Amino acid sequence: MVFDFVDGGAEDEVTLTENRRAFSDLAFRARVLVDVAERPQATTLLGRPLALPVVLGPAGLVRMAGRAGEAAAAVAAERCGTVSVVSSGSSVSLADVAAAVGEPQWFQLYPWGDRRTVRALMGKARDAGYEAMVVTVDVPVVGLRERDLRNGLTVPPRVNPRTGADVLSRPRWLAELLTGPGVTFANFTDLVPRTGTSGLAAMTAGLLNPGHTWADLEWMVAEWGGPVMLKGVMTGEDARRAADLGCAAVAVSNHGGRQADGLPGALDVLEEVVDEVGRDVEVVLDGGVRRGTDVVKALALGARACLIGRPWVFGLAAGGVEGSVRAVEILREEIDRTLALIGRPGVASLDRSALSARPTRGWRPLAEPAGCACRSTDPHRRS
Ligand SMILES: Cc1cc2nc3c(=O)[nH]c(=O)nc-3n(C[C@H](O)[C@H](O)[C@H](O)COP(=O)(O)O)c2cc1C
Repeated sequence: MVFDFVDGGAEDEVTLTENRRAFSDLAFRARVLVDVAERPQATTLLGRPLALPVVLGPAGLVRMAGRAGEAAAAVAAERCGTVSVVSSGSSVSLADVAAAVGEPQWFQLYPWGDRRTVRALMGKARDAGYEAMVVTVDVPVVGLRERDLRNGLTVPPRVNPRTGADVLSRPRWLAELLTGPGVTFANFTDLVPRTGTSGLAAMTAGLLNPGHTWADLEWMVAEWGGPVMLKGVMTGEDARRAADLGCAAVAVSNHGGRQADGLPGALDVLEEVVDEVGRDVEVVLDGGVRRGTDVVKALALGARACLIGRPWVFGLAAGGVEGSVRAVEILREEIDRTLALIGRPGVASLDRSALSARPTRGWRPLAEPAGCACRSTDPHRRS
């Protein structure tokens, strides 16, 4: 049940699959006899120095996967010299995650409820010292995650006839669930009426606000007052609007294939977004990153860093906080090895000349996008 919650995507999981496929459609143009004795990975994002170009992305309700919940990402980020983005849907409160680490983390806002609720959430994040805000805009409604429906996943999780044997065969997990703090949306307990136990989709649906527009984002950017990253951008047009509105960064993301099904892989649209706004704002790639080679490919296409979701959550499930740390370390080691093997002395030396693409790669918009200077992604029309 918990594995499916983390691993699964929406509907037929086409987008989930595309996120991984997109990486295998790019190959390295490896150069030899380059001095790769030094391979620095350090970079900055939203002004924050990062020891490696990997940020632990927001994931909510993670207490289900391990006792430390969202604090695992913050601790892992701090230990590895990077930062984590703490979900507003976290099961450990924003304040408790902040208290688990010395360095300020970043706050992810789901613009749920009305402006009063959104303002209250931002206030909690500000009071707890969060440095930057990541606004996730690809959840106007909840994606249809059929694995969760099939498993009867509820918040908090309840054992049902279907999952009984599954749960009983994992006594350590069950003991943690029963003895640890409850699984709930910790930041919302005083903001919305208690809903009791309910299906995940039903619970979230009561909080969503599909009426939000760019005007609301403009208000959020002004209200926050600090750096803002817009997460969930999948076109050049939307990236342009975000940049014009004052966002300092955009995360190219389809929510790890958990929301709309039938979207391209996140990496497939990275070039389009970088070409549109890469000179004005920082672009981050989110979705399907499992290996150091994936990070190197995204950076070569113009991303400044990658967000990871499932890798740190699986790390937590397998090995607690140490597991999340290990997930990031594995990526750091793999990025380092890849840079050496393709003849690139550090992440700053990466550019598109490090890559070859399969000729079939890319999606072609059927109409020229309105309101944006971005070029068609038709590979045959590229200069
Ligand atoms: C269990 C889980 C919970 C998530 N919760 C959130 C969330 O609360 N807010 C958010 O912006 N994205 C959330 N996401 C999406 C991730 O931030 C990220 O976009 C996605 O996982 C990236 O794909 P990857 O898992 O292939 O790395 C969640 C993802 C997972 C797996």
